[in-house]
Amino acid sequence: MSKTGEMDVIDRPDEHRYELVDSDRVMGFAEYRPVPAQDALEFHHTVIDPAERGRGLGEVLVTGAMADVRRKGVTVRPTCSFVAQWFDQHPDEVDLLADTPDAQRRDAEGIAVDVADAQPDSSAVRTALWRALHVQIDPAPHLLVDEIGLAIAAPEPGWQQRRDMDPQGTAGHRLALVARTRFVEDLLVEEGIGQYVLLGAGLDTFAQRHADDDVVVFEVDQPGPQTWKRHRLEALGLGVADHLRLVPVDFESTDDWWAELLVAGFDADAPALVSSSGVSMYITKPATESTLSRLVQLAPGSIVAMTFMYPLELVDEIDRPALIGAARGAEAAGTPWLSFYSPEEMASLATDAGFRHVTCIPTNELAERAGVGRSNGARASSGEGILIARI
Ligand SMILES: C[S@@+](CC[C@H](N)C(=O)[O-])C[C@H]1O[C@@H](n2cnc3c(N)ncnc32)[C@H](O)[C@@H]1O
Repeated sequence: MSKTGEMDVIDRPDEHRYELVDSDRVMGFAEYRPVPAQDALEFHHTVIDPAERGRGLGEVLVTGAMADVRRKGVTVRPTCSFVAQWFDQHPDEVDLLADTPDAQRRDAEGIAVDVADAQPDSSAVRTALWRALHVQIDPAPHLLVDEIGLAIAAPEPGWQQRRDMDPQGTAGHRLALVARTRFVEDLLVEEGIGQYVLLGAGLDTFAQRHADDDVVVFEVDQPGPQTWKRHRLEALGLGVADHLRLVPVDFESTDDWWAELLVAGFDADAPALVSSSGVSMYITKPATESTLSRLVQLAPGSIVAMTFMYPLELVDEIDRPALIGAARGAEAAGTPWLSFYSPEEMASLATDAGFRHVTCIPTNELAERAGVGRSNGARASSGEGILIARI
């Protein structure tokens, strides 16, 4: 326990949280998860009673909690942005930080994720809005009912009038997107796999839509956009439940996403479904090769599902203008498409990495199988495939 003025900061190990208590009244709390491999506590969520905001109680709570952590001789992983900021403001305390790639970056640069970097990734917002548009304008039955992503994105009113939301012009992408998401989620449930890893998760909402399923969801994404998503989940009252682990990583930097995944509680001896949807075109080929080489070491029973964009010459003529428009839009937004693969090339990347059971399916075929267009002739774009590689 730490005494701070009239208030106490009390560790409640059974509840995995430090409480700020004033005369038996809990004014706020900072939640943590023990990370035994690092003798560390991961602080992932901090709450102050809304009636008490503006009094600097968050600072009091975290200062007291860190004093107690120091006395106990453990280290800290601050995935809660408030605790991360506390370390920014208390550089003399950084020796408390666990020796993770995240912490090393913090040491090297003297900062955690800068608040200015805590912005959404525009491509992730776009796909979330397309999923919402599917529910709003495509005829039922819908392949996927997801409007939580829309709530997270919180776009300006009139977002449906954005050029990249054109109902007809973007229908092909929209239908391929919902078909591939539905396919991967069905695969996870059908195979009874208990760990779902989303590489480049964006505004995915499986964790919220399947909160009662016995699945631990690991969302891996860039640190800034992920901090932003955490803020949005908290602002919406959805929070970050224990079955959802946010893993901040930049695949292109020296970050070791596998180490970060283990720190977040991933069980490397248990099967997992690892999905990388709508990501490989933003990543260099060497980075994707190294991701596949790591994934081949997953436990038996695991599945990797990775989508990829086809080179233009493999795309049906009718779908090319929309694809060119989408690529231009991505470039203008500062997230250009870098990598394209034929199904043969993607299959041999996976085989070369060591996967033995490899298949590539066009995502428009997934849409057709799911009944897209039966009632209205709509068609999914022919521009994308999905690799399914089993271990
Ligand atoms: C088009 S979104 C796809 C999001 C989600 N998988 C979906 O299907 O809706 C691409 C995602 O990849 C992430 N991403 C792009 N480059 C990345 C990198 N170098 N490291 C980590 N994540 C990255 C972006 O932040 C974004 O969330």
